[in-house]
Amino acid sequence: MIGQKIPQVEFKLRVPDNEIPENSNFLWKQQTSTEIFLGKRSLLFSLPGAFTPTCSTYQLPEFERLYSQFIQLGFDQVLCISVNDAFVMNSWGEANNLKHVRLLPDGSGTFTRMMGMLVLKDNLGFGSRSWRYAADITDLVITKWFEEPGRSDNCRDDPYEVSSPGNILNALRA
Ligand code: BEZ
Repeated sequence: MIGQKIPQVEFKLRVPDNEIPENSNFLWKQQTSTEIFLGKRSLLFSLPGAFTPTCSTYQLPEFERLYSQFIQLGFDQVLCISVNDAFVMNSWGEANNLKHVRLLPDGSGTFTRMMGMLVLKDNLGFGSRSWRYAADITDLVITKWFEEPGRSDNCRDDPYEVSSPGNILNALRA
């Protein structure tokens, strides 16, 4: 993984229509990997699903809480990707009162599949989702990689340790 370029995909976002002040309308906006990552150092973390217990109770809030520590270490942005559509990801961001972490919807799983991280979660009725991992990305190149052990289809376990923000911060500071 280290030294590889991230996949070039087009993310399908829902963003506020800023043309009309105080408007609650949202519009479709496409943004490519290059538009999101080029010229920046990014901490990207991936998880199996918005609104799921570990992701909602620990993973997303922990990255949000520790966001400033990533910025202090030289990151420009912290992004969370999941195989969920833009409506779900936006609702999840609102439900968690997110101010810092940026949510990236990968509804069709294209980015996740090209990263080699797409796994089946049919045992839970989830279809194809992301294995948990995190990456330190400069411009479009992966420079550090944090993947939970045991990546497999229909895995009974749901490990969350290697890709936790505390572990990543410790590793980056070591
Ligand atoms: C969780 O975050 O707890 C979770 C993730 C995927 C499937 C089930 C639970």
